Order: sequence, then structure tokens, then C-alpha cells
Amino acid sequence: MGRLDGKRALVTAAGQGIGRASAIAMAAEGAKVFATDVNADLLTDMPDGVESFALNALDDASVAEGVARAKPDVLFNCAGFVHHGTVLDATDAEWDFAFDLNVRSMLRTIRAALPGMVERGAGSIINMSSACSSVIGAPNRFIYGTTKAAVIGMTKSVALDFINQGIRCNCICPGTVESPSWHDRVKALGEELGSYDEALKQFVSRQPMGRVATADEIAALVVYLASDDSGFTTGHPHIIDGGWSGQ
Ligand SMILES: NC(=O)c1ccc[n+]([C@@H]2O[C@H](COP(=O)([O-])OP(=O)(O)OC[C@H]3O[C@@H](n4cnc5c(N)ncnc54)[C@H](O)[C@@H]3O)[C@@H](O)[C@H]2O)c1
Repeated sequence: MGRLDGKRALVTAAGQGIGRASAIAMAAEGAKVFATDVNADLLTDMPDGVESFALNALDDASVAEGVARAKPDVLFNCAGFVHHGTVLDATDAEWDFAFDLNVRSMLRTIRAALPGMVERGAGSIINMSSACSSVIGAPNRFIYGTTKAAVIGMTKSVALDFINQGIRCNCICPGTVESPSWHDRVKALGEELGSYDEALKQFVSRQPMGRVATADEIAALVVYLASDDSGFTTGHPHIIDGGWSGQ
């Protein structure tokens, strides 16, 4: 018996990184997984039990169509983007884009998926936040940290409003996680500092464990929050950061 037998799970940004690892991990636990990404070309080589299709988390119609197809019991909102810089670097366009992708995308998916969950009397919503949020600040993550703090507020609000209707809503706050976009960020910082190795050292040393997480380690938490094992847990940020915020 898998821990997610009989459940239907919709994942945004499942083309790579944490979203992809989570889609695969939930399928391994018996869920019927709907793995989606704005870039459908990335949704290859998925295991049995995974149905893949394009979904743009920035687009109301695309989200409504995807939710209607998946009819999810589990919704994992993973889409997000990291902007670099302080408050003085932030442009209005970057701010608007970040809030649209990192926060409003979750409004879109939750608004579309929640009525079906309420009708069925059960649902687990998992939102991707970050340790860099209201948990801790990180250098040059002004826009990003602000959006991810908003995700925590949204999570608590949804959890409270639907707590008596069988709905749970939690969010995940990872430290640094190995993923394609993280590799891009290390490369970009390396170019700024004139040393890739120095950039890598800075990213890794933030975690007192002396390493970054694998996407599979975050996926294990997604499986737990999706499953009935976490049935008494709602409205919380779940920090998984190699000790970063625990110092
Ligand atoms: N990697 C980290 O260190 C880390 C740490 C904490 C939180 N997170 C969060 O985890 C999530 C995933 O990050 P990652 O680093 O694992 O993956 P990633 O950044 O490497 O990949 C992101 C994926 O999102 C997809 N995407 C982009 N725009 C989209 C849209 N409009 N609709 C649907 N999909 C879209 C991309 O095509 C890509 O497949 C993000 O929300 C990120 O903020 C990442």
C-alpha cells in the first residue's frame, strides 16, 4: 500500500527541481499525479502514474483547465522565481512579476481547486515558500523574501477558513536546494565575484550542515504533507533548511 493510494495530486512547475522530484515521489506512493509546467518540453521521462501537460501558473484560463482535468485532492503549488538584489535594486516590473508568479499563481490554483476539495470533504494544499521569507532574511533577496513571506500568510488564512471542511493547507520553507535554477544562481554570483568556487562556498556555508539539500529531501516532506500521515497538521510553515534558521 502506498501512502497516497487513491489520491489525485496536481503539481505546478514539475518540469525540474523540487516540483519534478515531488511529482515522482508522490507517484511512487500511489498517487495519480498531474505533473504540469509552463515548459511542457521538460515533462519527459515521468514514471507510470504521472500524466503531464502544460500549465502556465500566470494564466487564469490555463489554471482553470488544468484543475478541471486533474480534480486534485492534493495541490502542490511549486512555481516560483528568485530575483537578486536589495530594495534599492528592485524594479516595479520585477516586483509585479514576482508577486504574480510566487503568490498570485497560488491564488489562481487554490481558487480553482478548493471548491472541488470542499465538495469531496478532503484536500491537502501545499504551498512553496522558503526559509528566506518571514522566517529569516537573506542577502540580496528583497523581492523574493517578501513574496515568500506572503505565501506563509496566505497559507495560514486558507488553513483557518477551511479547517472544518476537511481541508489542510501548509507551506514548505526550504533552505538552499540543488536545482537547475540554483546552479544558474551560483554561476551568476560567481561571475559577479569573479570566482565560481567562492560563490558556491557562500551558498553552501549558509547551511550549518555544510551542504545544500537535494530535491528528493524536499519531496519527502511534500509526500508527508500530502498524505494522511500529516492529518493533524495545518496552517504551518515547515522549515527544512539544514539548520540555517535554527542558529
Ligand atoms: N532551489 C532552492 O534553493 C529553493 C529554496 C527554497 C524555495 N525554492 C522554491 O521552490 C520552487 C521550485 O524551485 P526549484 O529551484 O526546485 O526549481 P527551478 O527554479 O529550477 O525550476 C522552476 C520551474 O518552474 C517552471 N515555471 C516557471 N514559470 C512557470 C509558470 N508561469 N507556470 C508554471 N511553471 C513555471 C519552470 O519551467 C521550471 O521548470 C520555487 O518556488 C522556489 O522559489 C527553491
